[in-house]
Amino acid sequence: MVKKICGIGAGYVGGPTMAVIALKCPSIEVAVVDISHSRISAWNSDKLPIYEPGLEEVIQQCRGKNLLFSTDIEKHVYEADIIFVNVNTPTKTSGLGAGKAADLTYWESAARMIADVSRSNKIVVEKSTVPVRTAEVIEKILVHNSNGMVKYQILSNPEFLSEGTSIQDLLNPDRVLIGGNDKNLGGQEAIQKLKAIYANWVPEDRIITTNLWSAELSKLADNAFLAQRISSINAMSALCEATGADVSQVSCVLSKNTKLGSKYLNASVGFGGSCFQKDILNLVYICESNGLVEVANYWKEVIKVNDYQKSRFVKKVVTSMFNTVSGKKIAVLGFSFKKDTSDTRKTPAIDVCKGLLADNACLSIYDPRVSEDQIRTDLSTNEIRWDCSTQVKPASFTNVKQVSVFGDVYEATKDAHGICVLTEWDEFKTIDYQKIFDSMEKPAFVFDGRNVLDVDKLKKIGFIVYSIGKPIDQWVDC
Ligand code: NAD
Ligand code: UDX
Repeated sequence: MVKKICGIGAGYVGGPTMAVIALKCPSIEVAVVDISHSRISAWNSDKLPIYEPGLEEVIQQCRGKNLLFSTDIEKHVYEADIIFVNVNTPTKTSGLGAGKAADLTYWESAARMIADVSRSNKIVVEKSTVPVRTAEVIEKILVHNSNGMVKYQILSNPEFLSEGTSIQDLLNPDRVLIGGNDKNLGGQEAIQKLKAIYANWVPEDRIITTNLWSAELSKLADNAFLAQRISSINAMSALCEATGADVSQVSCVLSKNTKLGSKYLNASVGFGGSCFQKDILNLVYICESNGLVEVANYWKEVIKVNDYQKSRFVKKVVTSMFNTVSGKKIAVLGFSFKKDTSDTRKTPAIDVCKGLLADNACLSIYDPRVSEDQIRTDLSTNEIRWDCSTQVKPASFTNVKQVSVFGDVYEATKDAHGICVLTEWDEFKTIDYQKIFDSMEKPAFVFDGRNVLDVDKLKKIGFIVYSIGKPIDQWVDC
């Protein structure tokens, strides 16, 4: 019988995932632990560290009953029957594989700590996204650092939630994947124990079991396929602009093909988020390490097209505004990587803003959920680039002074020459564009990087509008 679960890592995955397990398994005590004191105190407060629709309600129902957040990592690992490891696995920034390989430092230190403190058998669940065959390494660390009395079973249980919809995704997942070693009795029992937890709310036919390596690789493949679809439709958007086709119409036609399905076909300024680029680079590195250069190059193209889409957008803004944005105020609406999240990791807004700042634009940024501090940190951080041919420089100190952040969309757009919509927040569809137009410099431009605005309405007001992948005459003729 599983009585206690410990989740190591209280981030975007660990927090919501462990909370939903607590909600659905009231007889199990769930402790979520983290090395970050500020994160844990935020989880214990009224202002949670991440914004996710529906999350507050779940936390309120379970916190203080069978869900707790703590920095006493060792105590809760010691007591747990099952340990979910939800720590971050970012791209390495230095050393061998820098810019591509996954940095497993956090995972390794969690594994060493588990080995140090455990005195009873444990099931260790890889919830983080990791390179294929990581379980083998983790097992070595656990076995070689423990006293020989404790038995470990390692399972791979990658998480498929999307930010902005994570509670819905966790409550009603299209699949739960459990990879384990079913060749021995201990492995079989561990798989059944984890399966039984999910079976409290997930129909059994949605719980897939595979071997460990298939589960680890499936997660990377899943994200690579999703990102590849976005790069495919974004590549089409460039061709649409060159030929007069309309990418929304092309997407609509593709979506009716039951062999293709309708999701991940929205052309955009580029995909962002902490997962897609990182996981593809991870895949690329694994391919290269296995001598599969052609396969590695195939996946690299997905990221190259994404970088191209962001720089193409910046170029369109600059060329449309008479080849210079120097000294012009440009309002940026939306900074998070997608709507309904405050997460800005790898948001396309960073590269677009840096590109515009490099051309000396003055940016006024508005996002309903992202703080000014976060925006300023993101714009002044120098990121290691995966491919030296696509350098985007961080904003210099002087550039950053050209950035203002507003808490009101009308303030942000006042006296602007142009507006760039970089996140598809619902509120951007319903704001008063006539009022905005009246307060802007003329000609007033709108660059819709998410294809969410009513172009005809904007054109009637008097805006010059550019939408991704839309017929050229739509904006030239205005
Ligand atoms: P995150 O950075 O938000 O959270 C990770 C947390 O782990 C941090 O709070 C950090 O302090 C903590 N941590 C690191 N090392 C620790 C240690 N040794 N002991 C205790 N705590 C430690 O990351 P995230 O977005 O939640 O992602 C976690 C993993 O899940 C990654 O592998 C990611 O690829 C994967 N994933 C993320 C998403 C997503 O949408 N964010 C979706 C699916 C999978
Ligand atoms: C992704 C995967 O979807 C999820 O399964 C995995 O667990 C984590 O990574 P996430 O990054 O949270 O989830 O969001 P997602 O909705 O997939 O969007 C990623 C990026 O692609 C966003 O920037 C989004 O705006 C963009 N996108 C998505 C498009 O540009 N077009 C689309 O059609 C869909």
